[in-house]
Amino acid sequence: MNLNNKLISVKGRERPLSKKQKQSFLLLSRYALNLSLFKDKEFFKKNKICLEIGFGSGEIIFQEAKKNPKNIYIGIEYYRRGVAQLLKKIDDHDLKNIQIFHGDAHVFLEEISKFFFDEIWIFFPDPWPKKRHEKRRFIQIASINRLYEILKPDGKLYISSDDKNYISWILSLIFQSDKFEWLAESPFDWKNPYREYYGSRYEEKGVKKNRPPYFLKFKKID
Ligand SMILES: C[S@@+](CC[C@H](N)C(=O)[O-])C[C@H]1O[C@@H](n2cnc3c(N)ncnc32)[C@H](O)[C@@H]1O
Repeated sequence: MNLNNKLISVKGRERPLSKKQKQSFLLLSRYALNLSLFKDKEFFKKNKICLEIGFGSGEIIFQEAKKNPKNIYIGIEYYRRGVAQLLKKIDDHDLKNIQIFHGDAHVFLEEISKFFFDEIWIFFPDPWPKKRHEKRRFIQIASINRLYEILKPDGKLYISSDDKNYISWILSLIFQSDKFEWLAESPFDWKNPYREYYGSRYEEKGVKKNRPPYFLKFKKID
């Protein structure tokens, strides 16, 4: 089954793609996630595999994949414009270690089984700041449980946001779930991005508007 053909369940309006973006988008057939990969458990055991959910224009996944050619990177994004932008970067640099799932991350999470990823990154998920929209937030108790299942033992979950309320929401759900240890090393650990970090487009916008980023790092409790 090709999940990229499944109905995208996330609603949203998108500006039309430019001619160049349309051309780049066609590259998806070359770099789309090949789900048969998930049948090969040995492949996942042997390799370090990182998953980014909602990669936007793909700055971070691209830089990481370029720097670590032995690791495998799977990126999920439903906006075609962002997918086209990442596809162009992958193709220009002839990267062989990124695969893209164009679609709704919820669909992806429903479809795969357990213990695949060493790391999962969710950088600046849509904050849905209004109380009545909180149910639209990607981080919910059900998604935390799924993320837990698909991580390998000792797997890491990295989440960042510039929305203080969303950060408190995430922390309270993570503690409630009792499935992850918060890897904070000091009271100001939230100021430190994970490893060498390249910054994302969304993050940059927030900083310009005086919204500092918060970085959360968790480890799966086995
Ligand atoms: C606020 S943007 C942040 C993008 C990027 N991570 C960054 O830091 O620049 C959130 C991104 O998540 C994507 N997204 C939100 N929900 C998603 C879902 N259910 N499946 C796939 N992508 C999703 C949106 O399309 C959007 O690009």
